[in-house]
Amino acid sequence: MSLKEKLIKDKLPNHVAIIMDGNGRWAIRKGAARIFGHQNGVTPVDDVVKASAELGIKFVTLYAFSTENWGRPLEEIDALMGLLVSTIKKETKKLLENNIRLLTIGDLTKLPENTRRELNQLVQATSANTGLTVILALSYSSRHEIILAARKIIQDAIAGKLLPEEMNPELFESYLQTAGIPDPELLIRTSGEYRISNFLLYQSAYTELYFTSKLWPDFRAEDYYEALLDYQNRERRFGKTSEQL
Ligand code: IPE
Ligand code: IPE
Ligand code: MG
Repeated sequence: MSLKEKLIKDKLPNHVAIIMDGNGRWAIRKGAARIFGHQNGVTPVDDVVKASAELGIKFVTLYAFSTENWGRPLEEIDALMGLLVSTIKKETKKLLENNIRLLTIGDLTKLPENTRRELNQLVQATSANTGLTVILALSYSSRHEIILAARKIIQDAIAGKLLPEEMNPELFESYLQTAGIPDPELLIRTSGEYRISNFLLYQSAYTELYFTSKLWPDFRAEDYYEALLDYQNRERRFGKTSEQL
């Protein structure tokens, strides 16, 4: 029985979030420049998107570039932005054919003009699609997202649109960039690092975490199935006892 066949269809997560890490190390180990790792990080994205669509998973959030990543050498940033544009152009047809919707979270105003334009065009072009939603986290920082939400909440309160006692988790979530998107049930991080690196801090309060030592360019559909199988064997208690479930 293949790993895919072992998956229980009605126990799949609705939303999987992925910290795609390890591109640089993958390239260095091959004696190449870091950007070579980023270039080879596109195939695993294809694999995960295709597998998710086939399995009927509704949301996949991919951490592609953090706010902190702006601190990297300019050369690497430029190459990454260029890669983003060429990948968007290459993937457009596939997204449209497969009824996939693209969304973004993060501060897109920081991106180069042409990257932002290409991205927005693809978001527009896929906005009516009803299959899998792929959310690209770009120039994203969870703390920044939470601070922006806090600012908006204060503004609404000052404008008299909101009373302090009205605030609750549902209303708070509606101020986040992920408004309307369910919390991820599973978060995968590749490359053997055991940290969240400013990703979906609020949304992952009860998310199952899965870490693998595989570097992102080596991650394939089979590795994804393995993570999903692992998830299916977890007991999600949400603070209760096993007996209560
Ligand atoms: C993840 O791979 C991709 C981005 C952060 C853009 P890295 O570039 O962080 O690769 P490592 O962690 O240095 O190996
Ligand atoms: C997290 O990876 C961000 C992305 C995968 C886009 P980093 O490589 O930037 O994270 P740290 O620096 O190891 O925490
Ligand atoms: Mg890294």
